[in-house]
Amino acid sequence: MTQEKVRLHRGLRDVYIDRTQSSFIDGKIGKLLYRGYNIDDLAENASFEETIYLLLYSKLPTQSELDAFDADLKANRALPEAIVEIIRLTKDAHPMDVLRTAISATAAYDPDVADNSHEANLRKGVRLTAMAPTIVAAHAQIRNGKDPVEPDLELNHAGNFLYMLFGERPDPRDAALIDKDFVLHAEHGVNASSFGARVAASTQADLHCAVTTGIAVLKGPAHGGAAEEVMKMALEIGNEENAGPYVRNLVEHGGRVMGFGHRVYRAVDPRSVHLRDDARELGERKGQPKWFSILQEVIEIMQPYSRRGICQNVDFFSGAIYYLLDIPDDLFISIFAMGRIPGWTVQVMEQFENNILLRPRLEYTGPMDLEYVKMGDRD
Ligand code: SDX
Repeated sequence: MTQEKVRLHRGLRDVYIDRTQSSFIDGKIGKLLYRGYNIDDLAENASFEETIYLLLYSKLPTQSELDAFDADLKANRALPEAIVEIIRLTKDAHPMDVLRTAISATAAYDPDVADNSHEANLRKGVRLTAMAPTIVAAHAQIRNGKDPVEPDLELNHAGNFLYMLFGERPDPRDAALIDKDFVLHAEHGVNASSFGARVAASTQADLHCAVTTGIAVLKGPAHGGAAEEVMKMALEIGNEENAGPYVRNLVEHGGRVMGFGHRVYRAVDPRSVHLRDDARELGERKGQPKWFSILQEVIEIMQPYSRRGICQNVDFFSGAIYYLLDIPDDLFISIFAMGRIPGWTVQVMEQFENNILLRPRLEYTGPMDLEYVKMGDRD
């Protein structure tokens, strides 16, 4: 029996699996819209709270809508005591493993967990978005032998994260940087982690399963883990002069320059442009301009690759920003996850609205119809 001829789409490259209204990406020119609004406008004008509202409710909020939404987020920051206990029990694990485990465990305390309705998913998406920074910061405190810092309802989402992480009110400029970083990471179509979340929703599993899946998938360095690797690269390079030899050696041996390349963008990722200016300003403010200079030198050296569509992506400068804010490097990816929970929520709600099981196929290339050999006859 000859097998039907199949056309493989490895990595699902350029395969469209559904329609969406959450974000538009033009990879050729490096354009990104959230619900029709350009990321350049949102990054420079909208708060993360405003951006979450836009993504979840498909409209920019009025001031009174934003105030009510902000109050709802704040009301959901605190963790059930059992979740803090789970963080204590898993404190020696990687922060992303703790976040994934704790987020998964919140399912046991969410009254809406089994309800996949749009309204229930909105409530759950708010709760998960609100709790994530509290989980990450509580773990950072506990692994250093300290008690978690209670959320400060006077501070916005980003400022409160830095407050709980360091135990002191942040410089408003630092909080504004993390707020913008959350905006830039909030949603990006059916990237690998959002695809994982959609697969979970396609089987009619719930939002907690889907977000737990998203966190698990995001952890890989080919996806969310790049920011940490970019900063490791900058530290290994050490100075501008060494950037050229380092990068050339890396690519000549088939290595990947982390923070470069993208499955969809063939031009500069528009999100990286906003973080570039912030990384330069922060480096100067913190008296450490060299990291920005090293990264700029890497961009210069990678110029020939840009002609092949290999340009810097959202993770290229974010690692330097987190490093200059004294955030431990194993928390970099957790910051990406905190920002992306609204995006996973939106993708899951869209999947539920017109659900279909996501179940691709594999072309079998193994042996066919072998005769079964009894144990005693095997050699
Ligand atoms: C994110 O999808 C999203 O939307 C993701 C994201 C989001 O918001 O959710 O934007 C966030 O994940 C950004 C990407 C972060 N990852 C990294 O920075 C890791 C380094 N980048 C690469 O590993 C890579 O670019 C990927 C994984 C991001 C994309 O890889 P693809 O699309 O599978 O492309 P590929 O591996 O087939 O590479 C195509 C060619 C290859 O050359 P050839 O073998 O054909 O000669 O481009 C080369 C690659 O060698 N290439 C690179 C490179 N990335 C691709 N060469 C050097 N350095 C790189 N970074």
